[in-house]
Amino acid sequence: MNRETSRAHPAAGDARSHEGLSPTLLAWLAVESLASGTVLDVGTGTGGLALALAPRARRVLGLDTDAGALVEARRRARRAGVGNVLFVVADAEQAEYRTLGRPDVVAAHLCMSDAIIGRSAAGLSRGGVLAFAAFHVDQWRETGRVSRFAYEAERARAVLEAAGFRVEGLEIEREVAEFGSADAARAATERFREKWEASGRWAGWERFLAGGGRTLTESRLVARARRQGDP
Ligand SMILES: C[S@@+](CC[C@H](N)C(=O)[O-])C[C@H]1O[C@@H](n2cnc3c(N)ncnc32)[C@H](O)[C@@H]1O
Repeated sequence: MNRETSRAHPAAGDARSHEGLSPTLLAWLAVESLASGTVLDVGTGTGGLALALAPRARRVLGLDTDAGALVEARRRARRAGVGNVLFVVADAEQAEYRTLGRPDVVAAHLCMSDAIIGRSAAGLSRGGVLAFAAFHVDQWRETGRVSRFAYEAERARAVLEAAGFRVEGLEIEREVAEFGSADAARAATERFREKWEASGRWAGWERFLAGGGRTLTESRLVARARRQGDP
């Protein structure tokens, strides 16, 4: 199922529920019973998903390689009075999830790779859930570059199944912002400029605007998969 919205809005990507977290991912996690379980949030950043899930979970572990982001995540947890979340500096592509805390659910928001799917398969027991929102290949398609972390739905399905998961849901969430002028489009993306210049995206974006393009696509692939026996 695809969920597509089109917005005539000057600021792409600021109109999502719960601090920008994927509504589909939150809805899918809302029906998982977490009260007696441990959730691992990989690539937690400043802890948005971990903190959203903490009130319903026994325990949440947030992993990230960025120690600075975790300082902010811990600050946010303290401010919110959340005591059942632990933030740990670790590489989610290398870590042994079982030794970190025997997760019942592995969740991820905009941090996904084949290696993380593999670590999740190794770390979850049969019946355990991997639920994530990843960049989809159409993310910022107007810039002419596809992120190396982006997934297309069928590739995600193939990687999940090969790792020993049964796919229970795959959905594309897409928002297309529309701008009245090239200047409005540039202003809306100014906050990405430094990063886009470094990655070569900005030049592609300028070419798109010069050719009369006035849209910017945000596209995420949301997946829910359950661990089966050995692959
Ligand atoms: C786009 S941000 C998403 C952060 C957060 N999940 C959110 O949605 O706000 C990606 C995060 O993944 C982290 N990350 C990237 N590779 C990682 C890895 N191998 N292990 C752990 N964290 C990683 C980055 O440091 C960054 O905080």
